[in-house]
Amino acid sequence: MTTHKLLLLPGDGIGVEIMSEVERIIAILNAKCGGTTFEVEHDLVGGSAIDAHGVAITDAAMAKAAAADAIILGAVGGPKWDDVPYEIRPEAGLLRLRKDFDLFANLRPAICYPALAEASSLKRELVEGLDIMIVRELTSGTYFGEPKEISDIGNGQKRAVDTTVYTTAEIERVIKSACDLARKRSNKVSMAAKWNVMKSGVLWRDVTIATHKDYAPDVELDLILADNCAMQLIRNPKQFDVIATDNLFGDVLSDEAAMMTGSLGMLPSASLGAVDPATGRSKAMYEPVHGSAPDISGQGIANPIATIASLAMALRYSFDMGTQADAIEAAIAQVLDDGLRTADIMQDGATKVGTEDMGKAIAAQVEAKLA
Ligand code: IPM
Ligand code: MG
Repeated sequence: MTTHKLLLLPGDGIGVEIMSEVERIIAILNAKCGGTTFEVEHDLVGGSAIDAHGVAITDAAMAKAAAADAIILGAVGGPKWDDVPYEIRPEAGLLRLRKDFDLFANLRPAICYPALAEASSLKRELVEGLDIMIVRELTSGTYFGEPKEISDIGNGQKRAVDTTVYTTAEIERVIKSACDLARKRSNKVSMAAKWNVMKSGVLWRDVTIATHKDYAPDVELDLILADNCAMQLIRNPKQFDVIATDNLFGDVLSDEAAMMTGSLGMLPSASLGAVDPATGRSKAMYEPVHGSAPDISGQGIANPIATIASLAMALRYSFDMGTQADAIEAAIAQVLDDGLRTADIMQDGATKVGTEDMGKAIAAQVEAKLA
């Protein structure tokens, strides 16, 4: 009997509603996967943790996260916490999880489900069959570089600084992850950076070339300026397989790639640390790419697909449960084929459903597929 410990951190806004649908799927896995049980714990992160404890994540929650085999996070933030000091803002909880567990490789797949090709803002022929993996560096760069400050420079003027810092080792490990993934896909890595204006971009380019030569000469490598990458994603997204990039460019490019697939509400992500040689596993956190969507939270209309697909990624990357991950992904494709749509992906002639009904429909399909 194998027991996997999951820590669920629903967070704020729609994070709470969509996590309930993940729990529905976990209950089915527990009923259907003899020999494997998921043990679930919960805690607070983001604004809800600030309201309860005054910090965006407590040390106790971090300890639970450390003990868990995987973390699944909903979303953090919202206008309610706009006025809390920068240091304790909701996002600080998410960033602490990423940083403290050194979850440096953020995998953000952008897959266009056939049923949703029409929902994309791009033409059907551009996105149909789209399957891109963005590998975003997640623990360094502009998000964490010091100095990071606003100072007074007199005369009522201020000066703000963010610092983009990268070391060779930080770039090398994420490029290796991107090459490993490419080998299981279409064997191509496009590395996006700004080596024409940023010193950190020059290092990204040089380390990528060297790492590729030593580690993965069999993988096709393309170096692309990040602005050109943004443009090419809109012009001809299917030219890409794996896009490797830094923390800030990855944040932007992954929202762009996500939207092309129909809705930000569709896309999951995995944030992985280094492989522990003792267990062969990585510390890992799974979360939807979308945010807490305060404008629609509490209405029961949010799309739970990205978070349910994040659970599928957890099964695949943390627990070697590829069959069950496939079942969840096939269940999502099936309900979309059946014409069920949450508001964000609604189309003419489709059946509009809320969060719970979408979750129930997917759960029923998962149950049938694992029967
Ligand atoms: C993301 C989000 C976060 C980020 C926010 C919520 C801090 O946009 O995961 O892409 O900027 O990384
Ligand atoms: Mg983002």
